[in-house]
Amino acid sequence: MKHILDALEERRANARLGGGQARIDTQHKRGKLTARERIDLFLDHGSFEEYDMFVQHRAVDFGMDKGEKIPGDGVVTGWGTVNGRVVYVYAKDFTVFGGSLSETHAQKIMKIQDMALRNKAPIIGLFDAGGARIQEGVAALGGYAEVFQRNVLASGVIPQISVIMGPCAGGDVYSPAMTDFIFMVRDTSYMFVTGPDVVKTVTNETVTAEELGGAKVHTTKSSIADGAYDNDVEALLQMRRLIDFLPSSNRDELPEWPSFDDPAREEISLDTLIPDNPNKPYDIRELILKVADEGDFFEIQEAHARNIVTGFARVEGRTTGIVANQPMVLAGVLDSDASRKAARFVRFCDAFNIPIVTFVDVPGFLPGTAQEYGGLIKHGAKLLFAYAEATVPKVTLITRKAFGGAYDVMASKHLRGDVNYAWPTAQIAVMGAKGAVEIIFRADIKDPGKIAERTKEYEERFLSPFVAAERGYIDDVIMPHATRRRIARALAMLRHKELENPWKKHDNIPL
Ligand code: HXC
Repeated sequence: MKHILDALEERRANARLGGGQARIDTQHKRGKLTARERIDLFLDHGSFEEYDMFVQHRAVDFGMDKGEKIPGDGVVTGWGTVNGRVVYVYAKDFTVFGGSLSETHAQKIMKIQDMALRNKAPIIGLFDAGGARIQEGVAALGGYAEVFQRNVLASGVIPQISVIMGPCAGGDVYSPAMTDFIFMVRDTSYMFVTGPDVVKTVTNETVTAEELGGAKVHTTKSSIADGAYDNDVEALLQMRRLIDFLPSSNRDELPEWPSFDDPAREEISLDTLIPDNPNKPYDIRELILKVADEGDFFEIQEAHARNIVTGFARVEGRTTGIVANQPMVLAGVLDSDASRKAARFVRFCDAFNIPIVTFVDVPGFLPGTAQEYGGLIKHGAKLLFAYAEATVPKVTLITRKAFGGAYDVMASKHLRGDVNYAWPTAQIAVMGAKGAVEIIFRADIKDPGKIAERTKEYEERFLSPFVAAERGYIDDVIMPHATRRRIARALAMLRHKELENPWKKHDNIPL
């Protein structure tokens, strides 16, 4: 009997070696951990249950039948827990055929995807792989399409997270692109549909992997990635933090963590957050951190479209999505990038029943040919659409400017905002005083005295929260120092909100 048990241990030890010690050493030399080391760091200690450790490929072409068969076939799959909550995980093993996907490798991922969807728990993929296994041809392509199909079916039902931890191409970027969030590791991870060599052959462009698809490119320019970290360890620990914010599925309750932060905590410093000069910026993050439990904020897309801030915080221990215009960048204006970024975030929150708190200080949509040619109308409409279709609790606070269409868009009362607050410093109008006076009093334009008088009149009448409050578009004008308490109370009051949109197969959001 003992020798049978020993044989199992031997088989397991062999499988754990993946592509062998030499390739593991290369992986480490490149500053990367192995698939199993990554899983161990990500999950609660000792919680990993591995499946399909002994699966091998069945390919016969290109000498594959005579070559080495490595148990596990380039992906480590299973489930475990993060702070006690179940998550499914698969990690590409770059030491085995570069983590490329074969027919059997795909079946392993599909099994985990099916289990995650059936049992309603998040799934996280750790990517370090070169796409479809070239030697398997259409069997690998088919395998990928099956994985993609499952990504789509799971979208909006369970959270799907991808972490890019090495060079990734082909299906190893398309599958992540269909998940909710993508994170990268700086200097060791790349994402491209085709790598630099193919680029050179097809377009004659010479480009490095970093320039083509490094973390900097994808967190700033392309916005493919939602964030980047300095190394594998940091990335995986941050993923544990993210999981803590997310419900396990669209039918599950929000996770609730103990908080020792008084929901009625007053922040006197907020009374002076808004500068006297309306054109002076201030950091909206200060407000976010002062409202959040323990100042804990997990930012999404921090480096892209920085004129809007999106991320997760907690109030009274429960997750809340935060969307906030950032006056520090482009005066917080809404442009195409900011609209798309916030729209995607709002839709994620709505899909997973996460209430949304919106902080508004927006001078309007960004004018100009660059924006119009780039499709601002449609991109702006995405955010409008996202807020309008969202049925989760929506609490909005206007801190300063809410001008023009941007007032409407930013979770206004008219888009079924549940509780809409304003600070006394709010200015809710079609536009700022100068532009408005120059248009409606064009006849007086050459008379500076009259213009000054008209401007003062406009500022007094319109650049305040009270015109909106008189109509009930603002439910209350609140003191800045009481913001956390008022938001916490609003969210608690809205906890059992029920609102359903008319039945439809799905909507037709302007893509
Ligand atoms: C089989 C592969 C492979 C692949 C890498 N390897 N990619 N084996 N199929 N797709 C193997 C290599 O042969 C090598 O084996 C080992 O993995 C490490 O690869 P290297 O090239 O030495 O590593 P590196 O220099 O770091 O480059 C990594 C890489 C590059 C950028 C990922 O390997 C690459 O460009 N691979 C091909 C990418 C690609 O075009 N894939 C097909 C995409 S099509 P040894 O034995 O030497 O260790 C696709 C279809 C999906 O995915 C559909 C999308 C819609």
